[in-house]
Amino acid sequence: MLNRFYNFLDERYRVTPLLRDIADHQVPDHANPTRDMRAFVYCLGGISFMVAILLFTTGVLLAVYYVPAPERAYDSIQYIMNGVAFGPLIRGIHHWGASLLIITMVLHMLRVFFHGAYKDPRQLNWVAGLLLLMAVMGMGFTGYLLPWDQKAYWATNVGTFMAATVPFIGDFIMRVLRGGPELGAITLIRFYALHVLVLPAIIGLLLAFHFLMIRRQGISGPL
Ligand code: HEM
Repeated sequence: MLNRFYNFLDERYRVTPLLRDIADHQVPDHANPTRDMRAFVYCLGGISFMVAILLFTTGVLLAVYYVPAPERAYDSIQYIMNGVAFGPLIRGIHHWGASLLIITMVLHMLRVFFHGAYKDPRQLNWVAGLLLLMAVMGMGFTGYLLPWDQKAYWATNVGTFMAATVPFIGDFIMRVLRGGPELGAITLIRFYALHVLVLPAIIGLLLAFHFLMIRRQGISGPL
């Protein structure tokens, strides 16, 4: 059934060449996957991407029920956990997926590092990767506050207070993050906006750049 639908599309819109062009790339030859299991390390970037898609999808589903206001946030999470079909599963995937993404990204980074794949001409792609890592960590930091429970509140209290230790501009950064001297409704809505709008947009742009560079430069093998 699915095959017939695919053939229907393929005959009319020639999907196969397009998919080949996007997804069919050989990893460096000495590590041919059919011959060498070590080629698995080349999948770590793709795996990171898949986890990111999973986080995005489950995040959209959570946003259907989540309310970013201090008097409603905690209850809306309780409702997701107890009243929504598959709510705990969706929230669980989003929660654990965030940690998994950091792990797969760091492993991918190690592969790039030990293969020396960050060197000329791929320096800018390495920098884009570092910015991606920071943006993903920002997602973790801003997402942590959203359940608005004791742990979230005090962790963000400490986290934003750490920003205040930056010389000269620390206090300013802390106030911008908190939306004032104390944590409150403005902090929650700011973190929510960063979590669902600003950081995903930055990550989308960085990923587009990352993939464009990979298409232009190809995937390099170990030195
Ligand atoms: C969400 C995060 C990321 C995704 C989805 C991603 C995705 C990918 C993919 C699919 C590739 C192709 C080759 C491979 O998979 O090994 C790649 C290559 C590359 N990535 Fe990433 N990446 C991410 C984060 C990072 C980070 C944190 C760094 C380093 C700081 C980085 C640096 C690079 C470099 C330099 C290449 C080119 C390697 C080569 O040509 O052999 N990436 N990335």
